[in-house]
Parts: sequence; C-alpha cells; structure tokens
Amino acid sequence: MADESQKWVLMVTAQTPTNIAVIKYWGKRDETLILPVNDSISVTLDPEHLCTTTTVAVSPSFDKDRMWLNGKEISLSGGRFQSCLREIRCRAGDVEDEKKGIKIAKKDWEKLHVHIASYNNFPTAAGLASSAAGLACLVFSLAKLMNVKEDHGKLSAIARQGSGSACRSLYGGFVKWIMGKDEKGSDSIAVQLADEKHWDDLVIVIAVVSSRQKETSSTTGMRETVETSMLLQHRAKEVVPKRILQMEEAIRNRDFASFAHLTCADSNQFHAVCLDTCPPIFYMNDTSHRIISIVEKWNRSEGTPQVAYTFDAGPNAVMIARNRKVAGVLLQKLLFYFPPQPDTDLNSYVIGDKSILKDAG
Ligand code: DP6
Repeated sequence: MADESQKWVLMVTAQTPTNIAVIKYWGKRDETLILPVNDSISVTLDPEHLCTTTTVAVSPSFDKDRMWLNGKEISLSGGRFQSCLREIRCRAGDVEDEKKGIKIAKKDWEKLHVHIASYNNFPTAAGLASSAAGLACLVFSLAKLMNVKEDHGKLSAIARQGSGSACRSLYGGFVKWIMGKDEKGSDSIAVQLADEKHWDDLVIVIAVVSSRQKETSSTTGMRETVETSMLLQHRAKEVVPKRILQMEEAIRNRDFASFAHLTCADSNQFHAVCLDTCPPIFYMNDTSHRIISIVEKWNRSEGTPQVAYTFDAGPNAVMIARNRKVAGVLLQKLLFYFPPQPDTDLNSYVIGDKSILKDAG
C-alpha cells in the first residue's frame, strides 16, 4: 500500500429504501444460499421516509470488522453477514484516491478490515422490511467502497444471501425476485419490472400499528412453515406462479382493480399459511384486522377498489391508494377510526407524495 502512516480512512455512504412485497416471498428451498420456493414482486418505497443509511469505512488501523446498527454495536459473526462480506471482498478491485494519497490494490482487501455504521429511519424488525433495506444498503455501499464492478443483478444475488427480500431493494419501482432453477443460486436474482416513474399516481400509506419487534422472525417463521404447512406447497406451486403473471400484467397496464385484488389476496394467503404452520404464527393483531375490514368495506361500497392493503411479518398495515386524493380520504378514515389518543400505538406515514404525517397519535 502507498500510504505508510496507517492513519487514513476511506469512507462511502449510501442510502437504500425498503421494499414491500405485493406477492410475498415465504419459504426457502435452501436456507444457506437463501433460495426461495416461489417468485415474488415488490414495490420499492420512497427513500425519503423508510430507508437505511449506511457508512462503510476501511483503514489499515482497523484490527477487525465491526458493525453498529442504530448506534449500538452488533455481532458480525452471523453466517449471512460473513457471506455478503466474503462475496464482495472476493470481487474487490483496485482503489485510488489521489487527493488523500490512498492506493489499495485488489489483493490488499483480504488484509483490510471494515467498520460499518447503519441507521434505519423507521422501526427495526417490526415487520417493515428493515432487513431488506439494511442488507441491500450494506452490499451496495461495500461494493462502492471496494470498487466492485458487478451489475445490479449480480449485487442482488449477493444481497439475497444476507436477507432474501434485500435483493429487491437494489432497484426502485416495481421489482421481481426470480426464484431461479440453479441450485447454486446464480439465477436467483432481482430484476426491475418498471421504474419509479411508471404508475406514479400510487401513494403508499403505512399505519405503524406497533413498533415493537416481532416475536417470530421471518427466518424462523418461514422455516417452521416449510416444515409443517401443506398449504405452502399448494401456494408455491399452484397459486403464486399464476399470480406473478397476473401481477406483471396489472403493473404493465396500471390496472388498479387487478393490482389491488392480487395484493390483498396474496397478503391474506401469506397470513393463512402462517396460521397453517404448527405451531401457528400470528403476525397481525386486532387493529390489523380492523384495518382490513375498513378497507374491504370501503372498496365494496365504491364498486371498484380504491386501496390495497398488505401486511408483512408484523401487524403494521401497508396501504396503497390509487391516487393522492384517495390517500387523503384514507388518512381521514384512519384518523376517524383510530382517533389520536395519548396512548395510541398507531402512527401513520404517507409515502410517495413527499408529505408525511408522523405520530398521528
Ligand atoms: C413477509 O427477507 O426478512 O416480508 O430471507 O430469512 O431474511 P430472510 O427473510 P426476509 O423475509 C421477508 C418476508 C416477507 C415477505 C417479502 O418481503 O416478500
């Protein structure tokens, strides 16, 4: 290395939004490589409101790899972090910063350690896909730091090994994670179906029903589902392949009725599969169920869907309104049914139109 002083630090900061699946990933066929039992489709959210910001730094004075999440040091010993670090390190290129007099040759990366500081601007592990944004951001920022020349598809396959849903956060807009056929996972990658400008009338409203960490992690939950649920086999083989095609068509044609129908049905089937797991997994709570009823009743009374809802591995509701006007009415309804009270646990965020209603309670 050119620098003798050992005092330099090279840093890169990146921001990655989270994504919400409208056709869910639930179940792995390979736990180590994180290969799913079905394709999935997601919407990447506006980075302004739900995103991870990660700074990665390298210096010859660092004696080991370390990571801090929201200011607290966490262990990097887990296999998933190590897989991502290993995959990025072995693709690292030469790096030169003339101003700082830093020169790192490809072969030096094996000897250098990194420090990683990551912040979520939303509740961590509360079913708002924090791991998706986190791992995607980690892979993206490390790739930048180490001058990795891979395209987004290849990077998505690395992020996938950190957390399955993370592979979809490498792209904006509508994204499909192709399950792939290769048992080594080379074709299990994310692809962009449509960019963020396509169908930009949609407004996403998230009701944070609870910001507490979920009891059953997605990883544990889906392992138990794979081991015990017969419904999952039917879902993965019979239901999802058809829904993927229908969803792609709905997105292409900006067909909200079809999009909403598929999104709600898929969320409900995912939670049915959780109930079909032994022991059953309950991610939604009474407030989640009330939100479903309110939206279903409203959609029926209008004759055509106005809002789609979807719930991940937690009680928080993600609602997709067909346009900004509908999103305004939706917020009014939420405030009417869940009036602001000092002890309320419901905060609403409006995503997509740059306005934010936070801490409605
Ligand atoms: C319900 O990607 O968090 O949000 O791959 O084990 O890290 P691991 O699981 P994770 O699971 C996400 C599940 C989901 C559905 C989805 O995002 O598709």
